[in-house]
Amino acid sequence: MPIAQFTARKSLEAIAASGESHGKGLSKTLGPWSLTGLGIGCIIGAGIFVLTGKAAASYAGPAISLSFILSGVACAFVGLCYAELAAMIPASGSAYTYAYATVGEIFAWIIGWDLILEYGMGAATVAVGWSGYFSSLLGGFGIHIPPEWADATGQMVKLADGTTVSAICNLPAVLIVLILTSLLMFGTRESTAVNNIMVAFKLFVVGVVIVVGAFYVDKAHWQPFIPANTGTFGSFGYSGILRGASVVFFAYIGFDAVSTAAQEAKQPQRDMPIGILGSLIICTILYVLMSLVMTGMVPYQQLGVADPVAVAIDATGIGWLSVLVKFAALAGLTTVIFVLLFGQARILFSIAQDRLLPAFFSEVHPRFRTPFASQALIGVVVALIAATFPIGLLGEMVSIGTLFAFLLVCVAVLHLRRSAPGTKRPFRTPGVPWVPLSGIGFSLLLMLGLPLGTWVRLVVWLVAGLVIYFGYGHRHSLVPEPHT
Ligand code: ALA
Repeated sequence: MPIAQFTARKSLEAIAASGESHGKGLSKTLGPWSLTGLGIGCIIGAGIFVLTGKAAASYAGPAISLSFILSGVACAFVGLCYAELAAMIPASGSAYTYAYATVGEIFAWIIGWDLILEYGMGAATVAVGWSGYFSSLLGGFGIHIPPEWADATGQMVKLADGTTVSAICNLPAVLIVLILTSLLMFGTRESTAVNNIMVAFKLFVVGVVIVVGAFYVDKAHWQPFIPANTGTFGSFGYSGILRGASVVFFAYIGFDAVSTAAQEAKQPQRDMPIGILGSLIICTILYVLMSLVMTGMVPYQQLGVADPVAVAIDATGIGWLSVLVKFAALAGLTTVIFVLLFGQARILFSIAQDRLLPAFFSEVHPRFRTPFASQALIGVVVALIAATFPIGLLGEMVSIGTLFAFLLVCVAVLHLRRSAPGTKRPFRTPGVPWVPLSGIGFSLLLMLGLPLGTWVRLVVWLVAGLVIYFGYGHRHSLVPEPHT
């Protein structure tokens, strides 16, 4: 087996030039607003609506807003690197494609394999969060989903009569994944229009929560703003802010999803950086304000529930607002699942075009012009994962996998500035090398904030990926000779 193949790279110019033919069949319908909408649609979701509550209650207290700033700063550094690569290499496939053009095939595969964690498992994570708000909303109307059908397989749940049983599977999570998968199978443009409406609704209600909630803030709830550490790393104090940042990092995942739609953008060079950075800035501001309001309305200890935003809003006593929040959460989470499922299909599409995966994943439906069959398979697998695993475990796996991919993106920018200094860069990351180096440092810091078990699972995942690469990818690859 020739070692040189692992470092084989596609020529940058060839990738840029073949952007058109590479995405043959996909329609170019997305402008800057749709792309920013796609970004925000993917960013605001289970992170703010579900995980923030637990992070505040267990790790950071009111200082969770500082965790959001820490995580947001990390994403800004990475986002600037992403924007340079996305504008320079306007082909879909996200960080995977960038790595193929820069550091080589095997690294590209590792990143691509990581992105499956981010997108596929991310969609499952958010579907589980959706299920929590869905059960809570129906419960408000007196309709109770049997708890054993609304939780991860094997989780102990309490029935109405007080007895405890083991859950069978999370049925609402399965349903939402399958419904959105069908939408995506039949056409991007139509489903993007639905997405934009839902994003607008979500943003409107997040704004209402911030403005109305501000009038109900009791500053006593912010005292002490950084609760004292309990003696354990990550349990309040400064290490709690770090652990909180690692957990709520999930809330930022998705700004990079914009890059996976590069082939469907009208003017990728201009629209990619606007979509990525614009959605990131808007979401950071909203998260900080939202977490301040939530921890100001109720004692942070009360937020460790499946529907923390609704619990905080209940403190206002305005009943309709609580219902509106639940609807908005459902809409918000729906858009996130939608974009993650969309992104997953496009990443597999790019990987399969390079023959590192079977051609099945790069087939475009002649009439609907979508990766029809691949999207269906992704939907079934994601639904199965959402049915059986709990949100905490999934969320941490997604975060560590994504942080690792982000780190490699920053490395790629540094590498490319040296190896291809003359290539046209419609958007240049400012402050090189410090911005990419900071991106690497912050990503590592946030990874270190996650528990050991998550690290072990990441290693197992990476080893499984390498087995597939050696068993299939390197034998079928379209790039047999290295370009060194
Ligand atoms: N950022 C997305 C969310 O919070 C993944 O749901």
